[in-house]
Amino acid sequence: MADLDARHQDIIAPVIAFSTKVHAVSAEGLWVTDPEGNRWADFACGTAVTNLGHNHPAVTAATHAQIDKVIHSGMIFHYDAIVEAAERLREITPPSIQKFAFANSGAEAVEATVKLAKYTSGRQGVIAFRGGFHGRTMGSVAYTTSKARYRDGYHPVLGSVFVTPFPHPYRWGMSTDEAIDLSLHELAMTFKHVVSPKNIACFLVEPVQGEGGYYPAPPKFLDALRELADEHGILLVYDEVQSGFGRTAEWFAADHFDAKPDIMAFGKGIANGFPLSAYGAPREMIDSWPAGSHGTTYGGNPVAAAASVAVMDTMGDLLPHARQLSRHAFDRFGELAERHEVIGDVRGLGLMIGVEFVEDRDTRVPDAKAFQHVQAHAFDRELIIIECGPDGNILRFIPPLITTLDELDWAIDLVDEGLTSWEKTRS
Ligand SMILES: Cc1ncc(COP(=O)(O)O)c(C=O)c1O
Repeated sequence: MADLDARHQDIIAPVIAFSTKVHAVSAEGLWVTDPEGNRWADFACGTAVTNLGHNHPAVTAATHAQIDKVIHSGMIFHYDAIVEAAERLREITPPSIQKFAFANSGAEAVEATVKLAKYTSGRQGVIAFRGGFHGRTMGSVAYTTSKARYRDGYHPVLGSVFVTPFPHPYRWGMSTDEAIDLSLHELAMTFKHVVSPKNIACFLVEPVQGEGGYYPAPPKFLDALRELADEHGILLVYDEVQSGFGRTAEWFAADHFDAKPDIMAFGKGIANGFPLSAYGAPREMIDSWPAGSHGTTYGGNPVAAAASVAVMDTMGDLLPHARQLSRHAFDRFGELAERHEVIGDVRGLGLMIGVEFVEDRDTRVPDAKAFQHVQAHAFDRELIIIECGPDGNILRFIPPLITTLDELDWAIDLVDEGLTSWEKTRS
């Protein structure tokens, strides 16, 4: 490990921040193994990607088979995998989402949804929500406000992006209804003082804010956005890059809500580790976007598309299990919160669970050190967990959907022990 670490430090740009120094030489299911045979359960899922676990046999088989057929098209040839992936996507997305295009990364898919919204509406403004994460390319970073640091050094970012608050009831010390009211009031003030709705092409929103702190949108908030969108001819774009593909124990977070989007962006879990993303919209909208107005050489690569077909063929059977895991995890974290004062809030949707650590429940001062302590405790016992939120104090608990109940208990037990050990250092 030391040798690779030294070579890595010497040659790889430090701006790409890796969460661990684990030297992965093999990976299967939950487990990632290093050259000495040490192993860790990856409850980070390669940052919310390997929802089926690493090297899932169906994905491996499908991609091996595709490699023997066609590896690359580059927008020159038609091929089965991309059509099959789109057909499968249409089966699992809300009925309004009817035609699709593919890209390489989440950021690229999000940017494409905004380009689609701008082009087809003829409007140029975008409303994004504070705390959102939509990527770090020069376009997508203009919509990303989960941490100011992602924008440091890159100003000015794209113009005509208007950021209004997403409801964060816990952090604001409010009830959910109060937080919704405040967010909608600020949006109304933005429309009154800053930009008229007739300039706005789309609302860009994560139905569960991910990087920003695992805040599920309150259903009433999305209902209100849907209503405003319909009233003003604004398109509602759901960024489901992180919340999609089983992460919320449904195919998409949109399945939990009455308010359905006009446009959706997908990434991460879509191909269980192969670089693929996608976006979809109603047929007439996508058909009115002329050929060549947007494009990508590698987007929808045949091997990555074959992986995504395997994901969609496999994941449906796992969703009931994911719901059971979710219920169990919420029960267990609820019980942990009764015993550990440092847990200020437990929230989320499905298997997208945020556990927020605070120094004091009354002041809700974020406690990043508590998280780091628990993370190190878990790491020393073969469990990898990561954080989210602007203060680094929220455990982002995202087990793969293939986790057994026993493995889930093992991981939550380690969090429990880590917290007990943290409390001992404090007393
Ligand atoms: C909701 C959301 N959108 C977009 C992105 C950007 O995806 P990528 O890193 O693949 O560009 C992410 C990545 O974390 C995300 O969580």
